Amino acid sequence: MKIGITLKLFLAFFTTSIIVIITMLVAVRCSFQSGFLDYINRVEIERLDALAVIIADEYEKQGDWSFIKNKKGIWHRLIISHLRSTKGGDYKLENFDNNQEEQSLDLTDLGLRLELLDAEKEFVAGNRQFGGNTVLKPINNSIDEIIGWLSITPSTALVDTVDIQFTEQQNNTALIISIVSIFFAALIAVLVAQHLLRPIKTLVDATRALTAGNFDTRIEVTGVDEVAQLQNDFNSLALTLEKNEQSRRQWIADISHELRTPMAVLLGEVEALQDGVRKPSQENLHSLHSEIIRVNKLIDDLYQLSMSDIGALDYRKEQIELTGVLDDVVTSFTEQLRSKSIQTRIEYDTSHTYLVFADTRRLYQLFSNLLQNTLRYTNPGGRCQISCAKNDREVTVNWQDSEPGVPEHLLEYLFDRLFRVEESRNRDSGGAGLGLSICKNITEAHDGKINVQPSALGGLWFQISFPTPFVRSR
Ligand SMILES: Nc1ncnc2c1ncn2[C@@H]1O[C@H](COP(=O)(O)OP(=O)(O)OP(=O)(O)O)[C@@H](O)[C@H]1O
Ligand SMILES: [Mg+2]
Repeated sequence: MKIGITLKLFLAFFTTSIIVIITMLVAVRCSFQSGFLDYINRVEIERLDALAVIIADEYEKQGDWSFIKNKKGIWHRLIISHLRSTKGGDYKLENFDNNQEEQSLDLTDLGLRLELLDAEKEFVAGNRQFGGNTVLKPINNSIDEIIGWLSITPSTALVDTVDIQFTEQQNNTALIISIVSIFFAALIAVLVAQHLLRPIKTLVDATRALTAGNFDTRIEVTGVDEVAQLQNDFNSLALTLEKNEQSRRQWIADISHELRTPMAVLLGEVEALQDGVRKPSQENLHSLHSEIIRVNKLIDDLYQLSMSDIGALDYRKEQIELTGVLDDVVTSFTEQLRSKSIQTRIEYDTSHTYLVFADTRRLYQLFSNLLQNTLRYTNPGGRCQISCAKNDREVTVNWQDSEPGVPEHLLEYLFDRLFRVEESRNRDSGGAGLGLSICKNITEAHDGKINVQPSALGGLWFQISFPTPFVRSR
């Protein structure tokens, strides 16, 4: 049988309550019984004062203990008188019929526990007491001399019917209170279990909704405890999933759009050739070819990004000199830079080495992307300044170019996929908006960082840093 968490919580509360109530019931019973017996004994001992006075009077009249010594009848009459007086009767030896009262004397009680001793504590009358816990009550004469002792052994159990009935009544009342308490404990346990589990149930329902793809599900945060923390975390998780889902959809829509545009152009051109609207000239074929190259590059870039997303891009890293890669990239673009009259300078201290632990091909791709951007988005006659710096933790490449720049509020989006600044949406001058995303991926795959800010030259200033191999090995 599957026990739900509500039932478990209820059982935990309820069992604890029952254990507490039963323990209290037993403890109260024991404590009441011993306390009540103690009280009865103390009252009984107090009341012996009156008996002591009667005995002292009789002793003073007679002058010694002979009036009672070995006279069981007188001793019994004394005790019976004493018992009657405690129940509101008259305390006089002459007032009762000896035979009748003697028979009604409860010898199992006070008579059996009481003994009369003389001043030297020698036995005079009563039942001899041998127990160690006897209590001695002095009997004084009129001039306050001790003439004898009453020795009593305290009772170990209740014998009086009224006392027993009273105790039973108390026990029954305690039992009824306990049963009522158990009922209330059960009721409170149900309410508390339901109250505590309400937010958990909401969380369970919300999690199911999230699993079913309802990413707009949110939970109302109640309180400030651990459950509230969990509710907050759930809401953050739902928000992240919702954003991811949105960006996934956006990403697919953007890719479809990016592919559709050149494909539509290609289709149009091919159909024009088929219909004879255009002649298959060298120029037309060249246009078709460059369109295909553009689509091909786009597909390559997308493939590379998706590969790096799933961590499937292979990096063959080794210790390399960073400035060597920079020199190679700039050299391979010399012709294009010259044709656009862009002055390019690489600055670094030749007495230093700028070693990084990296994949040469990927770094080449990274700096090619940056240089392509400089070529595309820098006005003719502009400048490109590349410098290297290093400290004991990292090697940094500062890549700056001249106007135009990018409005500051758009800088944070430059590394987003398919992002292009509005003016560069022209298909002839701009690309798909994937180059910088790839640069970021390559940098991060090398445990590096890439940032962009406006350059003093008027264009953009990219800072790319990689950890030095020394730091990596630590
Ligand atoms: N050096 C730069 N100067 C000015 N703007 C730049 C520079 N580099 C990038 N940009 C802007 O940032 C946008 C994104 O650059 P990114 O390299 O990611 O894409 P792209 O060059 O448009 O296309 P792709 O690189 O995929 O062919 C560019 O469209 C351009 O508007
Ligand atoms: Mg680019």
